[in-house]
Order: sequence, then C-alpha cells, then structure tokens
Amino acid sequence: MKKIKVAVAGLGRIGKILLKNLSRNFPEIKVVAAMDIFDESKEISDEFGVSVFMKDFDELLAVPELDAVVICSPTDTHADYVVKAAKAGKQIFCEKPLDLSLERVKEVLQIVEESGVKLMLGFNRRFDPEFKKIKQLVLNDAVGDPQIIKITSRDPGPPPVSYIKVSGGMFLDMTIHDFDMARYIAGKQVKEVFAKGAVMVDPEIGKAGDIDTAVITLTFEDDTMAVIDNCRKAVYGYDQRLEVFGSKGMAQAENNFPNNHKLYTESGISGDLPLHFFLERYDASYNQEIREFIDALVSGSEMPVNGEDGLLSIAIGLAAKKSVEEGRPVQIDEILI
Ligand SMILES: NC(=O)c1ccc[n+]([C@@H]2O[C@H](COP(=O)([O-])OP(=O)(O)OC[C@H]3O[C@@H](n4cnc5c(N)ncnc54)[C@H](O)[C@@H]3O)[C@@H](O)[C@H]2O)c1
Repeated sequence: MKKIKVAVAGLGRIGKILLKNLSRNFPEIKVVAAMDIFDESKEISDEFGVSVFMKDFDELLAVPELDAVVICSPTDTHADYVVKAAKAGKQIFCEKPLDLSLERVKEVLQIVEESGVKLMLGFNRRFDPEFKKIKQLVLNDAVGDPQIIKITSRDPGPPPVSYIKVSGGMFLDMTIHDFDMARYIAGKQVKEVFAKGAVMVDPEIGKAGDIDTAVITLTFEDDTMAVIDNCRKAVYGYDQRLEVFGSKGMAQAENNFPNNHKLYTESGISGDLPLHFFLERYDASYNQEIREFIDALVSGSEMPVNGEDGLLSIAIGLAAKKSVEEGRPVQIDEILI
C-alpha cells in the first residue's frame, strides 16, 4: 500500500510529541520532512528518523509527493501556513488556535474551502478516552437531556510572561480548549457568554494585559448551560475535570493520576498528585487525534474537528474577553456578524 507522506512544521513541545506519534505509531504513513526555524531542532528530527530537515515552510511544501502537513509552529504562523498549504493542495492538521483575528480566520477558511483540501484543528481533548466516554454517555441518553456542563481546567503553573504577551490572552490560549469541549459535549451552538476574570496569581500577568483566573458561563441555543472555571496556577497540579448533569443523572470524569495507590494512616488518607501537565495528562489524545485525522484522509469522511469548530471557539473566546471588559453578558451574534 502506498504510504501517506506527511511533514511536520514546528518541533517545540507539541510538535515533538506529534512527530513522535506520527513516526512511530502509524505504519500507513511516512514522515518525509520536518521544519523549524531553529537549527537545534534538527536533533529532534533526527531522533525520530526524519532525514530531511529544513528551516523554511515553502521548501517543506515543495518536498516531492507530499500529501499532508502537520502545523505545530507558534500561533502567529498558523494562518499563513494553512493558506500556503491549502494553495499547494496539501491536507492540513493545524494546532489551535487558527489565528487570533476572526476576520483572518474567515479568510483562511474561505481559501481552504476553495482549495478543496481538508483541515483538522488540534482540539486534542475531544480524543481523550475519559472525555470521549462522557460524550458517548450523553449520546446514549444515559444522563438524559444535559442541563449543566461543568468544566474545571487549571494549570499547574503559568507560562512565562513573554509567552502570555503573544498568546492572545487566557481565553484564546487556554480556555479555548474548554470552549471546544463544552461545544463538543453539548453538540449545540453557544448563544451567550458571560465571563468574570481577575489577576490573582501573578501581577506581572495583569501588567501584560491578561488575567489568570476566570469563571465563564456559556448559554447554548436551547438554554443548556456550561460553567468553566480556569486558573493559571493550581498548587496541587493539573486539574482537568468534566461533569454533565442532566434529566436522568450525572456523568463525571475525574483527574487522572500516575497510579491508584492511597496511603491510609491515623492522620489521614493520601495519594499522588494528578498527572503533571498536558503532555502527560493528554498523551493518549495526541495519538488518537492523529489516528482520526489519517482515517478521515483515507476514508474521505469529514474531519472530526473542522475549520468551523476552530472559528466558533475563537468567537466564544472573543465574546468572553468582551464580557470581562464590559461587565455584561455578550451575545455570540455580536461577535460573529
Ligand atoms: N493542543 C494542545 O494541547 C497544545 C498544547 C500546547 C500548545 N499548543 C499550540 O501549539 C502551538 C505551538 O505551541 P508549543 O507549546 O509547542 O510552542 P513551543 O514554543 O514549545 O514550540 C514552537 C516551535 O516552533 C518553532 N518555530 C518558531 N517560529 C517558527 C516558524 N515561523 N515556523 C516553524 N517553526 C517555528 C520554534 O522554534 C519551536 O520549536 C501553539 O499554537 C499552541 O497554541 C497546543
């Protein structure tokens, strides 16, 4: 069977894990090239047996018989790279978010559509086994009609302020995953966003124009509600929980731990802290998202996370930002017009 030829752009935290999965876990594909603007990244390319390393995205696209690109470079490169790849007729997997500007995202999606290539966005949490199970329970009507979706999403510690300054802010960088998860679980469209945000972890984050703690309420078109709570720092580690409460019951996904040991003594009960951060906690999801990307390429079916999902999560993020700034609920139509 002819292998699907894939190239990876950006070999940082996320690029490295996707390159590892692509090069080791999918016999039906061959990673033919990798690129990064830093020379040192060639070592990562070599580590996973990718012999062609380059520093320019146009050169990457010119690799003979290339079928697909996996874009893991910084956010401000996504829109340009997706446009170039689409115009070159390559299938595309791109990390979130597509861009920080809704106008630019709309332009990019138009070009992708005209080119006829497929685009999948890296909302990996949809592919987490625990959250997939919750989604399945909702689809099976095990919890009845969902009324309240609760998402707790707290990081073990904030990224450097230099990262925060170019991240687009907490809603577009971090909460965007939770917005997508709420949409995925509800299977409906958000109509209203009401958010409160504060700086409670590090004043430097505030000086950089961002917040580090937030509570967001989403209201869906049928009045189902989702409550998301976020913080850039939880002293006990990465806190990732999901709950769906409905007319027939409740489904919960708790944190994942490195082991299930508990120590019971006269002073109390203790155990390990949750898996440290996203690379550990969502390890399985990074493999499964690529599995489903390849399956969709081979079968010609819809991508499991498409451009519209990317656009709507950004719209919700922008609505949340506006809600904090103006201290009022914001209708999604105010953002999407
Ligand atoms: N889905 C997830 O769970 C998840 C997690 C983290 C980051 N992300 C997203 O992935 C993207 C990368 O984040 P990261 O944490 O891996 O960042 P990172 O800083 O660790 O890595 C970025 C890499 O891209 C390289 N790079 C810089 N400019 C480039 C360019 N013009 N072309 C190609 N490569 C370039 C850098 O040298 C670096 O190796 C971001 O858009 C981020 O939002 C997604």
